[in-house]
Amino acid sequence: MDFIQELITIAPGADTPIYLQITNAFIRNIRSGHLRKGLKLPGSRKVAGLLKVNRMTVVAAYEELQVQGWIEKIPKKGTFVKKELPLLSPERIAENEEIYSIPKRTHFRFDEARIFPIPSSGFPPEGKLVFNDGFPDLRLTPMEALLRNMRSLSRRTVHKKYFMYGGSQGTRFLRETLSEYLSDTRGLPVTQENIQITKGAQMGIYLAASILLKPGDDIIVGEPGFTGAEFAFRRLNANINRVPVDHEGIDVDAVEHLCKTKKIRFVYVIPHHHHPTTVTLTPERRMKLLELALTHKFAILEDDYDYDFHYASKPMMPIASLDRNGSVIYIGTLTKTLAPAIRIGFMIAPENFIRAATHLRKSIDVQGDSLVENAIAELYREGTVTRHIKKSVKLYRERREHLCQLLNEELGNSVSFKVPDGGMAVWTTFRNTDLAVISQKAYKEGLVIPDGREYDTPAKKYNAVRLGFASLDFREQEQAVAILKELISN
Ligand SMILES: Cc1ncc(COP(=O)(O)O)c(C=O)c1O
Repeated sequence: MDFIQELITIAPGADTPIYLQITNAFIRNIRSGHLRKGLKLPGSRKVAGLLKVNRMTVVAAYEELQVQGWIEKIPKKGTFVKKELPLLSPERIAENEEIYSIPKRTHFRFDEARIFPIPSSGFPPEGKLVFNDGFPDLRLTPMEALLRNMRSLSRRTVHKKYFMYGGSQGTRFLRETLSEYLSDTRGLPVTQENIQITKGAQMGIYLAASILLKPGDDIIVGEPGFTGAEFAFRRLNANINRVPVDHEGIDVDAVEHLCKTKKIRFVYVIPHHHHPTTVTLTPERRMKLLELALTHKFAILEDDYDYDFHYASKPMMPIASLDRNGSVIYIGTLTKTLAPAIRIGFMIAPENFIRAATHLRKSIDVQGDSLVENAIAELYREGTVTRHIKKSVKLYRERREHLCQLLNEELGNSVSFKVPDGGMAVWTTFRNTDLAVISQKAYKEGLVIPDGREYDTPAKKYNAVRLGFASLDFREQEQAVAILKELISN
C-alpha cells in the first residue's frame, strides 16, 4: 500500500485544507480505477505516516469519504472502497467526455457596474511579513477559552434551544452581558433592547446607513476617511460630503457650515481613533457635534471599532455616553479585541431603531451564530476578555513605542508621523518616495505593505499608509523596517 504516497500529493501552502486535498485525491483515484472497488484501504495511522501528516487529518479525510459514500468502514474488518459508488459522482460515460464546469458568465444580463468592485487583499500570504492596517496579534487570541466555552455550552441540554432559529437580534445572553459590560466600562446606559448583534462593525454601518438613507441623501464623512464605510454609503447612493480631519478630529465647524445649505441625514465619525489618521476627537468638538445633531436633526453614526486600545490615558467615553436625545447610533466590534474572523459586533441605539435593524438584518442574514455569541458572553462573564484586553494593551503599547522609535531612527526624514494615542497603527506619510513603488518592491523582498492609494481623493494624494504595529513583535518590526530602509535608501 506504499503506492498511496504516489497517488496522493499534498500542496502544504494551498488554500484547500490538507484533509480535503487527501479526500479529493482518494476520490480521483477511485474514479480512475487506481483504487478499485472493494479494495481494503490502509489504516489512518499508516496513511498518515506515508503522507507525513497528522493522523487526525487522515481520520477527517476518511470521515469525509465515508459521508460522501466513497468508502465504508466494516467493524472488525477495516475500511474499504465501496462496491456501489455514489450516484452523484458518475463514472465517465465516454473516454473523452468533458467534465462539467460552471460557465464563466451567466447567459442572462445583470447590471454588474451597479455592484462596483471593492478591493480585497485576501488572506495574508504565507511566509511574508505584513504591515497590516492595524489588526490584533492573533497569537494572543484566547481561542482555547472560546472553544472550551463552545464545547461546554453545546453539551448542556438547556442550551440546545439556541441551535434553533430565533436570534435575529443576537442571543439575549450576549446582549445582557454586553449591556452590563458596556455600561460599566463605557458609560453607555443600555439595556439588552438597545443592542443589535451584528457580524462585525461593517454590518452595523451598512444596516444603520440602509435604514437612514434614501438615494441622493446628503451625509458627511471625514477626509481622509475609512473606505470600508464609504463603500457602503456609495452602494446606497448617498451623496457624500467630505470635511477635513485635523489634529483634533473631524472639523465640526465645517459640518455646521454644510448644515446651513444641505439637509444632512447623518454624520459618520470615528471619534476615538479616526481611521486612518488615529486622532482622537476632542471633548469640545464632541459636544458641538451633539448640539448640531439636535439643531439640524441629523443622526451621528459613531464607529468605535477599536475602543479598547488606548495607550496615553484611559479610553475616552464614547459620544453615545453623552447623548441624552437619541441622536447617536453607536457601532462597536469584537473583531479587533479578539480576531477579525470572529465576526461579532454590535449596534446600540434607541429601541425603535434597533427594531428596524433587527428586521433588516433578518432579510440578509437570518441570524448570527448563537453558539459563538453565547460562548463569547461566557468569555466576558468569566473575565477572560478583560484579562486579554489588559495583556494586549500592555504589549501593543510597547510595540507602538518600538515601531515609532524604529521609524525615527531608521527612516528618519523619509517619513513623518505622530505617535498615536490609541489604535493599532501608525499613520505614516512617506516623503520624497512614491509609496506605490515602495509597496511593489517590498513585496518582492518579503514584506507586504499597502500602497495607501485607497485614501487618495481626486483632490489629494496622501502618499501615506497605516503601519499596523500590534501584530508584529519587535524582531518582525525590525525586519520590516530594515526592508523599507534598504528600499528607500536605494
Ligand atoms: C474604522 C473601521 N470601522 C469598521 C471596521 C470594520 O470592522 P469589522 O471587521 O468589525 O467589520 C474597520 C476595520 O478595520 C475599521 O477600521
